This record gives sequence, C-alpha cells and structure tokens, in this order.
Amino acid sequence: MPAHRVTLGVAGGIAAYKAAELARALMERDCAVQVVMTRAAEEFVRPLTFAALTGNKVITNLFAATGASEDTLSSAIEHIRVAQESDVLVVAPATTDILAKFAHGLADDFLSTTYLAFTGPVVLAPAMNTNMWNHPATQANLRTLRERGHVIVEPGSGPLACGMVGPGRLAEIDVIANAVLAALMPAPRDLQGETILITAGPTQEPLDPVRYITNRSSGKMGYALAADAHARGARVILVSGPVNIPAPSGVELISVRTAVEMRDAVIGHLPESTIIIKSAAVADYHRADVPQQKVKKSASHLTLDLEPTPDILAECGRQKGDRLLVGFAAETENLIEFARRKLESKNCDIVVANNVATVGTGFDANDNEVTLVLRSGENIHVAKAPKSEIAHRIFDQIVRLRLALHSAR
Ligand code: CTP
Repeated sequence: MPAHRVTLGVAGGIAAYKAAELARALMERDCAVQVVMTRAAEEFVRPLTFAALTGNKVITNLFAATGASEDTLSSAIEHIRVAQESDVLVVAPATTDILAKFAHGLADDFLSTTYLAFTGPVVLAPAMNTNMWNHPATQANLRTLRERGHVIVEPGSGPLACGMVGPGRLAEIDVIANAVLAALMPAPRDLQGETILITAGPTQEPLDPVRYITNRSSGKMGYALAADAHARGARVILVSGPVNIPAPSGVELISVRTAVEMRDAVIGHLPESTIIIKSAAVADYHRADVPQQKVKKSASHLTLDLEPTPDILAECGRQKGDRLLVGFAAETENLIEFARRKLESKNCDIVVANNVATVGTGFDANDNEVTLVLRSGENIHVAKAPKSEIAHRIFDQIVRLRLALHSAR
C-alpha cells in the first residue's frame, strides 16, 4: 500500500502533458495518485494516458454522461468520496481559471467541487501566459489562496509556448513533487517556546516629502523565514520594511519604513525574543534633517549630506545576552571572508552570506543560494533552492546550535 493518497487535478493548459511526469514522480515517492481532469485539460491530454500511468480510473466530469468511456468515472457524490480519501490535493497546471474558481468558491466541475469538499493541504502549481499571471485579478486570487494557507509553487521564468518571455512556466516537476510531500509531512515543532524576531525587506530613508533612498530587497527571504518559524511552532514577530508580499498567516507583523523605526521596533521587542534574525536590507545612510518642503530643481549640482543610520545588528550584538543572533551579508566579492568579519564584529552566531552578483538568486528572485558562516568555524553551503527551502535549512542549523548550547550548560 502506498504511504500517501494524492489527488492530482489537471487543468487545461499547454503544460497539462507535464502532469503525466508529475504523476510518475509522485508514485516514485510512494504516493497513490487519483487524477481529476477538467474538460479543458482533456483537449490537451487523453485521460487514458493518466489511467495507464496511475493504474486508476481518471475522473473527468461531474455528472455521468451517458456512454461514459471505461477510463472515466463520475457520479453526483463522487467528489465527496475523492475529497475524503485524499491526503493532499495538488493541481498542476493550475490555470488562471481554476485559481479564480478556487479563490471564489465556484463549483461547476469535478475539480472545483472536490476542492470545496476537501479539508487537507492544497498545493497549486500555476502555469499560464505572463500577462495572465501578472494580471491584478490573478494576483489577487493568489493572495486569497495563500492567505487560506495553500502552497503556491511559483512558476518559473523563461520562454513560454505563447512566444512571450517571463513568469508563467510550470515549476520543475521535482519541485512540485517535493512541495506535495512537504505539505503532507507536518513541520517539526522544534521551535516551540521560542520567540523569533525577524526583520525583512528594505528601509526607505526620505530625502524630502516626495523622495527617498532605499536598497533592493523584495522581503521574500525574511518572509519565508517567518513562515517556516511559525510552522515549526515559534511565536514570530516580523518587523518589515515596505514590501509587496503578504505576511505569512499567524505572524505578528510590525510595519516600519525607516532604519530608525526598524531599530526602535527591534530594540523594543528584544527583551521578549530568544532568537533574532536580521534579514532586512537596511539603508546604511540617511538624511538626518529631512526638509519639510519638496527640494526644487534649482541648482546644477546637488550634494546630499548623509549620516549613518543606526547599525541595528551591531546594537543587537551588544545586547544579545544568551539570545541567538543571525545576521545576513549581501556581498558581491570575498563572500566568506567578509561574512566572517561581520560575524566577529557584530557578535553574531550565524551569518547567512549570499552573493548578490549571481543571476537567478538573491534580490527579488524566488530562489537563493547561501553559505552559513558559523561561530564554530564551519561554513555550510546551501545549494540553490526556493527561499522556503533555504529558510528551512537555516532553521535546521539554528535548532542544532540551540541544542548544542543547551547541552553545554
Ligand atoms: N544591518 C543593520 N543595520 C544597518 C545596516 C545593516 O542591522 N544599519 C544588518 C542587516 O540587516 C544585515 C547585516 O547588517 O543582517 C549586514 O548588512 P550589510 O549591509 O551587508 O553590511 P554592513 O554591516 O552594512 O557592511 P557593508 O555594507 O560595508 O558590507
């Protein structure tokens, strides 16, 4: 008997054929796979393909059509049975249409009714044209689905079947299969009892009422850390600069704008925190006296007089006591050497070093590749992976350090 029962929803997109590979990848991971296809999906792949691969009949429509072929099965309550007998629901490819149906609770075919009847974890792997992906309607639906706790396996960027280049390509099959397995395995509750203070995103330092200086940062790494810490049982305080992504559910969000505001929020919550992670891209300089009025374009040159912002990480390092302190080092050269120097000078326990000169990782990207520089002298390389995976690996090390410190006492 396979260990897990997966319902694989296949919606109607060019990538529907890749769902066959996903079915196989899931079976290799000890899953029994029940495929549910939308009517549009049948235009791209024959149900028989999935029936032959999975050894299960494929469900294709809500109401039994007379003369339904042998490889289809349907009845008015079948969706309830499928929902009850599944451990996880994955939809790949998830089209913009199926995302909209799920987000709004429409139920006019087998897949959307099964979704509403299902109470377990849901994994959605979208694939569509770039403009459809970027459309505010799609993005709003994705926000709703994320807030509902569903896992969205972000599409990759590249040339699409429609000829456009951009986000919209179905994620790698192994990434989707691993996300399904991760959704099935409850996260270890190894951070229970910890209060974790995480900073994320950039800061904005005003130059006048309409202008500011900032750093490149999407906040994705810090938000992934917050989500993982919450899933592992911690209380999470997320101090965030301005970003365009929703806070993970269950975390306490404190929104700030400037480095000074971030410093005040961090130092204010330091006493109740046991672990501090500083992933924010704090601006190093600011204008101390911001003019009340907009600066007019009058002179041929403009020289800005900037002063350093408070170094929040260094201040945490001085006050940390037996708290665990994790800093980040974004570098373009001499990664490990600079990171180790930062570890020493800011009194950190770990510095997460990433090379921001690498294409496809770091700023704005969904993936990252980092080296964890530890006080023990170890350097642990974490190969390129989604930021959620990197976050998990960082916490694995934090938990390991915690255990070592406790047993040393
Ligand atoms: N940081 C901070 N307060 C600042 C600037 C940075 O707390 N005013 C933190 C960041 O959140 C990050 C770490 O310091 O955890 C590293 O930031 P980075 O800008 O890479 O290093 P700096 O110490 O500012 O040194 P440099 O820019 O010269 O590399």
